[in-house]
Amino acid sequence: MLSRSLWLLGLAAFSARAQDETGTGTDVSTTATASSGRSSSSPSTTTDSDASYASLTFTNSDLSTISTSIPVSDFTGSEFTYITRSGQVTVTSTGERVFVSGTRTFTLGSDNATTSSNSQITRTSNTDALTQIGGNRTATATGTSSAPAVSNTAACNNYPEFCNRKYSNITEVCAHNAAFSIPRNAASNQELGIVDQLNDGVRMLQGQVHWVNETLYNCHTSCDLLNAGTWQSELETIVTWLQQNPFEVLTILVGNSDLTVVENFVPAIQNSGLSQYLYTPPYIPMHKDQWPTLGEMILNNDRVVMFMDYWANQQSVPYILDEFTHIWESPFSPQDPAFPCTIQRPPGLAEEDARENYMYIANHNLNVAVELGAITGGGDDAILLPNTAQINTTNGAGLEMGQLGAMALNCSNDHGAPPNFLLVDYYNRGDPEPGSVFEVAARWNNVTYNRPCCGAEARSPASAVARVSGVAVSAAVVFAVVLAW
Ligand SMILES: *[C@@H]1O[C@H](CO)[C@@H](O)[C@H](O)[C@H]1NC(C)=O
Ligand SMILES: *[C@@H]1O[C@H](CO)[C@@H](O)[C@H](O)[C@H]1NC(C)=O
Ligand SMILES: *[C@@H]1O[C@H](CO)[C@@H](O)[C@H](O)[C@H]1NC(C)=O
Ligand SMILES: *[C@@H]1O[C@H](CO)[C@@H](O)[C@H](O)[C@H]1NC(C)=O
Ligand SMILES: *[C@@H]1O[C@H](CO)[C@@H](O)[C@H](O)[C@H]1NC(C)=O
Ligand SMILES: *[C@@H]1O[C@H](CO)[C@@H](O)[C@H](O)[C@H]1NC(C)=O
Ligand SMILES: *[C@@H]1O[C@H](CO)[C@@H](O)[C@H](O)[C@H]1NC(C)=O
Repeated sequence: MLSRSLWLLGLAAFSARAQDETGTGTDVSTTATASSGRSSSSPSTTTDSDASYASLTFTNSDLSTISTSIPVSDFTGSEFTYITRSGQVTVTSTGERVFVSGTRTFTLGSDNATTSSNSQITRTSNTDALTQIGGNRTATATGTSSAPAVSNTAACNNYPEFCNRKYSNITEVCAHNAAFSIPRNAASNQELGIVDQLNDGVRMLQGQVHWVNETLYNCHTSCDLLNAGTWQSELETIVTWLQQNPFEVLTILVGNSDLTVVENFVPAIQNSGLSQYLYTPPYIPMHKDQWPTLGEMILNNDRVVMFMDYWANQQSVPYILDEFTHIWESPFSPQDPAFPCTIQRPPGLAEEDARENYMYIANHNLNVAVELGAITGGGDDAILLPNTAQINTTNGAGLEMGQLGAMALNCSNDHGAPPNFLLVDYYNRGDPEPGSVFEVAARWNNVTYNRPCCGAEARSPASAVARVSGVAVSAAVVFAVVLAW
């Protein structure tokens, strides 16, 4: 029987092995897979009466009626090993990097590192000359302390105000399991795909990545349940979008669901063309106030920050950052509409340390537990699915219990700053209207949200008032998948 924690978390708990304290993970087998020996099955034969996608029916409301009082997830993350922060080390980079991206060409000189006395290693560098060709921006940066002056008329992440704001000082919307937008699969977390998400303003893409058959896939819990394709193909989509949108900075949060070694993520990154955009921080770990501004990141073309939840090893792969030495998270996979904004991961993080050094994610995806036994007539395993019946309220901008607006306020009150990332399912749903998740972010960023939402249809001038017509999420189909499983 598949463990409940696997279902609840989509983390392959059974393959979890202790990560050594330093996070080097050198003794790790590279062959972990998500398979737990269950037989895979033929696709569902359930009749799907909603194949036309004509109506917006969140049939998960049916799921709610069969959910039972399954114990709420007891997940705390404590079974995993976390890298301990103690001081900082520096990333030494030598050699010359030359980037060519559209009309922008610039060269960064080499830099050397020296160690200072307090275990913090500071970076000394020769003058990094950033010369922009094809624009009006020319800047010279010396070391890490003086920022290049960025004066531009283009918006950074949709707002000119953000260009001079630190990456760590902005509230952005995060698409939970961004790649899981498979129509009529209740294990999906999004309705619209990654390109729509990015065009609409999502700036953190989160998702489970599984190591199966020596390949990385975007799968939900198991590749039998939902397989959204290879991770490399997702990265290729992102690279194309980055090329078309040169003033945008994204964060990718990788769930290393099979706890495979970080080196296994490198080929897909290189093959997809993403490497040229990845930000390599000067310190390990970065403190909250040490991040560059969006403008600096754009000038450097360091426009993607990649974090990994478990088994990052920045000494080995410097551009895949360890999540939990930089970011803390409120409770994961909550079923509690009060969304307490407590620090769940990393376990034991002190409030003061959190405020001083960390960014944080408000997990605001509401789940409904469905007892598989209620369907199969046997077993007591449970699956947590997005509670789409409540999605409008959950994503709502208001301050009522359960709404995203209320959680952001609670979090801000509790921790002295708003969340850096608002993690949501079905970002295109909300209240009082679609786009409310961006409205909440804008509120905390002191900017005005006035873009159309959501999806290509909503953005097209011809249908400015059109809203996404909606893709039904059919419980029937997922049940068939689950049953077959
Ligand atoms: C960096 O190190 C190299 C090799 O040790 C040395 O030749 C070079 O002068 C150093 N550069 C700076 C800016 O210190
Ligand atoms: C560059 O500056 C000039 C003069 O200030 C202005 O006319 C031009 O539009 C600017 N070009 C861009 C790409 O911003
Ligand atoms: C950004 O900085 C301002 C000014 O210090 C602060 O009020 C705000 O809470 C910060 N926002 C985030 C997301 O850190
Ligand atoms: C992995 O390989 C097995 C055996 O060839 C195959 O049945 C399975 O579908 C593969 N998994 C994925 C996700 O491609
Ligand atoms: C959510 O709101 C939309 C309008 O934005 C409405 O069409 C839809 O029926 C609502 N969904 C639920 C589950 O209430
Ligand atoms: C926010 O805080 C209030 C007061 O502590 C509490 O009643 C509420 O449940 C919390 N959560 C939400 C989402 O409103
Ligand atoms: C937004 O405005 C408030 C009130 O003026 C201020 O306290 C806060 O620092 C501002 N936030 C940002 C991110 O600038």
